[in-house]
Amino acid sequence: MAHQIMGLVIPALLQPYIGSGSCALGLHQNREVMLRSMMWGAHFVTLVAPIVLAIEVTIPLTAPSGAASLMGNLVSLSIEQDRWTDWVGTTEPNTFFNNVLDNFIQITNTPPFVRIGADSEDHTDFSYDVEYEEDIFPPSSTITPYPEATNITVGQGFYDIISHLPNGTQVHWGVNLREYNLTAAYLETVALMKAFSSPAVVEKNITLKFIEVGNEADLYYNNKGRNSSWNVQEYVSEWEDFAYNVSMAANLSKSSYTKLIGAAFAGSSHNNLSGFSPQAIFNLGILESPAGQLIETISQHHYSGSFCTGGGAVLQDLMTKSYIRGNISMYNPDIEAASAKGLNYILGETNSMSCHGAPNVSNTAGAALWLLDYTLYATQVGISRIHFHEGIGYKYNLIQPTTLNYSILDGSPIAPLAPHIQPAYYAAIIAAEAIGSSGTTQAVEIPIDENNVSGYAFFEHGTLSKAVFINTIAYFSGAGARNSTHIDVSFTGSGHAANRMSVKTLKIGYASDTTNLTWGGQTYETSDGRVSGPLIVDVLPVSSGVDLQETEAILVTFL
Ligand SMILES: *[C@@H]1O[C@H](CO)[C@@H](O)[C@H](O)[C@H]1NC(C)=O
Ligand SMILES: *[C@@H]1O[C@H](CO)[C@@H](O)[C@H](O)[C@H]1NC(C)=O
Ligand SMILES: *[C@@H]1O[C@H](CO)[C@@H](O)[C@H](O)[C@H]1NC(C)=O
Ligand SMILES: *[C@@H]1O[C@H](CO)[C@@H](O)[C@H](O)[C@H]1NC(C)=O
Ligand SMILES: *[C@@H]1O[C@H](CO)[C@@H](O)[C@H](O)[C@H]1NC(C)=O
Ligand SMILES: *[C@@H]1O[C@H](CO)[C@@H](O)[C@H](O)[C@H]1NC(C)=O
Ligand SMILES: *[C@@H]1O[C@H](CO)[C@@H](O)[C@H](O)[C@H]1NC(C)=O
Ligand SMILES: *[C@@H]1O[C@H](CO)[C@@H](O)[C@H](O)[C@H]1NC(C)=O
Ligand SMILES: *[C@@H]1O[C@H](CO)[C@@H](O)[C@H](O)[C@H]1NC(C)=O
Ligand SMILES: *[C@@H]1O[C@H](CO)[C@@H](O)[C@H](O)[C@H]1NC(C)=O
Ligand SMILES: *[C@@H]1O[C@H](CO)[C@@H](O)[C@H](O)[C@H]1NC(C)=O
Ligand SMILES: *[C@@H]1O[C@H](CO)[C@@H](O)[C@H](O)[C@H]1NC(C)=O
Repeated sequence: MAHQIMGLVIPALLQPYIGSGSCALGLHQNREVMLRSMMWGAHFVTLVAPIVLAIEVTIPLTAPSGAASLMGNLVSLSIEQDRWTDWVGTTEPNTFFNNVLDNFIQITNTPPFVRIGADSEDHTDFSYDVEYEEDIFPPSSTITPYPEATNITVGQGFYDIISHLPNGTQVHWGVNLREYNLTAAYLETVALMKAFSSPAVVEKNITLKFIEVGNEADLYYNNKGRNSSWNVQEYVSEWEDFAYNVSMAANLSKSSYTKLIGAAFAGSSHNNLSGFSPQAIFNLGILESPAGQLIETISQHHYSGSFCTGGGAVLQDLMTKSYIRGNISMYNPDIEAASAKGLNYILGETNSMSCHGAPNVSNTAGAALWLLDYTLYATQVGISRIHFHEGIGYKYNLIQPTTLNYSILDGSPIAPLAPHIQPAYYAAIIAAEAIGSSGTTQAVEIPIDENNVSGYAFFEHGTLSKAVFINTIAYFSGAGARNSTHIDVSFTGSGHAANRMSVKTLKIGYASDTTNLTWGGQTYETSDGRVSGPLIVDVLPVSSGVDLQETEAILVTFL
């Protein structure tokens, strides 16, 4: 990467090498070139011949019709509510959590949307005798160092501390369906409405946009919430009853700001878990029921694999471009069905591997590249927001908001580890920077006929502004010389064709790294969660193209 370090390209060092057998499938515009040696400052170093694959990409200067609109809160959060008080703080706000949320507001002018609930929402009772929250936890284990509480009892304070979040935060909160206890759902809803109408919350314009009635009801038979007669017909009937009660308690109507979430299923029409899918509940008439008329958004949940019983996950698999597309595009029929009913579509809970992530996969720098490609690709199929699931001490977190006393990987005791961000947080920052604060951003995928490189173009006010490129080859210690891809950019259509571009790089040592990433030379691995260090970008002529190493992402801003 000599030319990035020195800020200019040295074509004389790139000796064309044409005709590799791997260049089959119509990659005629590609040429493989070998970087046999290069200059590092004043030192002449001979390397073990890293390969530089050259590709040409063509980017439209104006937004193609139908380009996806990207909101500033595209990357949002879903929080397991058994430890909600740790995230936001009880008597005073959790400053670290607020800072790492505020970082997004600084970039997009929009706070992340926060979903609270998840599996815990269906284990929660309400009591006027509890101030904030009382939990019963199973013991920690190697596979699940930070298990979810089996019993959760919350009081009014649990909801009131929503006031600790940044100004303008939109919230999606779950109430209990699984316990089939209408009183629990009702009392939770009453407490929610009280919290959101309190002066502290109203002043900060923190708003309850969605109530979710039940989490992953398609799993209720599997997780012993219901007996073997559980099916989608029974679900629709129970949901309509509970959601009607909730909607009355919350005074919801077609004109109210707060609406209901539809589905919140673990599965999709693709795997058709016990016949549950958005299509199935539409066919059963849920949208015509009094409560169903208050559904504005369909939410589904997705993980690319599972660590529920341990077992190996492969980091390169998580990062693989075709698998990322496979994991998202399986929702296409569900998204189309929602859209045909005029409903928005989100992934209300997702992350890499279910049951809190896989060790040395979900918590790594490679997972950051997964998150970036997964998120941006999701926008291309009609997913408008993606809530990455988080819990205290989970492996796949973007954010660890409280001090940890045992390892997230295997539960062994560790020296207290202060609140910190994990590698995936950088990907959320990159997505935020690509979107920016204009409120007009659209994006299209840049067609790249390569298995290991993906790209997206961003438009503001209809005009090309930025591009993101991601190299999804997992580069590991001991793998030998690090290859890279040289990307030449040309433009199509009418509009201003930039001559120069600035390139900001997510630098990663190895895909398996869990710390020491830098984004434009800066770090978010700080005690207060604020960015630190001088910003470094390369400013290059567009005509020189740009290099992208294995396990790397770049943000190109056209100047
Ligand atoms: C139903 O929920 C209420 C409020 O959460 C709780 O006090 C009560 O014990 C629950 N009933 C049962 C049978 O679990
Ligand atoms: C936990 O909740 C279950 C019902 O979900 C109840 O049967 C059990 O008694 C509760 N345990 C305790 C210790 O409260
Ligand atoms: C909702 O359920 C609660 C608790 O069972 C009950 O007190 C209330 O009357 C119900 N509301 C409606 C509109 O049925
Ligand atoms: C947040 O809202 C509060 C209450 O309206 C206001 O005092 C404060 O200035 C706002 N902060 C920001 C950063 O806008
Ligand atoms: C309050 O938040 C809502 C939802 O994000 C937003 O549409 C509205 O403009 C905000 N109001 C103010 C006064 O900032
Ligand atoms: C399952 O539970 C429902 C509701 O509690 C009950 O009516 C039904 O008889 C049960 N079915 C079986 C097969 O146990
Ligand atoms: C209920 O909502 C209606 C319309 O959305 C509003 O006019 C009314 O004031 C609300 N009532 C309460 C008690 O909040
Ligand atoms: C989803 O991703 C995983 C790797 O994370 C892969 O094993 C699986 O095949 C992918 N699924 C699809 C449908 O592509
Ligand atoms: C994860 O990586 C650490 C550090 O390399 C290693 O000690 C540990 O054995 C790995 N754990 C698993 C489950 O692979
Ligand atoms: C770790 O220990 C500290 C000090 O006892 C405590 O405040 C903190 O809550 C513990 N962290 C977790 C996640 O339990
Ligand atoms: C670099 O590319 C060559 C040729 O495709 C390949 O043999 C080698 O394994 C690659 N090295 C790494 C670290 O990916
Ligand atoms: C991270 O970087 C710092 C400073 O460069 C260094 O001291 C530390 O050893 C690095 N940590 C790891 C895990 O590589």
